[in-house]
Amino acid sequence: MHFQVITLFPEMIDSAMNTSIIGRAVKNGVISVETVNLKNFSCNSYGSVDDYTYGGGAGMLMQCEPVYNAYLSTVERLENPARKPRVIFTTPQGRVLDEKIAAELAENEDLIFLCGHYEGIDERVLEEIVTDNLSIGDYVLTGGELPSLVMMDAISRLVPGVLNNKESAETESFNNGLLEYPQYTRPKEWHGKEVPDILLSGDHRKIELYRTREAIKRTAERRPDLYEAWLKNRGIW
Ligand code: ADE
Repeated sequence: MHFQVITLFPEMIDSAMNTSIIGRAVKNGVISVETVNLKNFSCNSYGSVDDYTYGGGAGMLMQCEPVYNAYLSTVERLENPARKPRVIFTTPQGRVLDEKIAAELAENEDLIFLCGHYEGIDERVLEEIVTDNLSIGDYVLTGGELPSLVMMDAISRLVPGVLNNKESAETESFNNGLLEYPQYTRPKEWHGKEVPDILLSGDHRKIELYRTREAIKRTAERRPDLYEAWLKNRGIW
């Protein structure tokens, strides 16, 4: 999986993508991340990439030409530029990312992320290059870098070889439509709270049943929307 990120703030992307589990995957060559600095594609002598909005209104808009030239330079760098890559524009106006979308994106070899700033990007260049408008939730952030990082993290952990056995994505929340069951480690008693006996029983079948029950209970309590979808999926609703 090769990510390219078009951004005004490459240092934000670099620092997060070189840390922890994703950083290990980058080091091991399982995924790679390249940033393309939009400031290098300015079309004027001031080095700016934004301008006032036609029709008035607050704030500045990113211009077509710098964004388009940055995009062309990312495409040129692809191993196979003929294969049109997905270009994801991070925007609160997009579909909201979920595990299913992340899994589908994880199947791609190349993904390009376009991070907006200021009041947004001129619509004409978006029409020309963007294949997916994607949001991370119904709230507005100051820029597209954090959403891109969230998306790349969610996608990367589904790429084979990124997680090791202990971190396996299989048992985590959402992979079966349920939230994860509660987990415990030593000590056996803490602040008067005991680890449930069944987890110490060594009976793996019973433990699995217990965990499934807890996952269902937790999902019903905390995310009734997911619980309803899970029931429907099993033909129970
Ligand atoms: N840019 C600003 N807010 C955003 C959001 N919620 N999701 C994706 N991109 C964004």
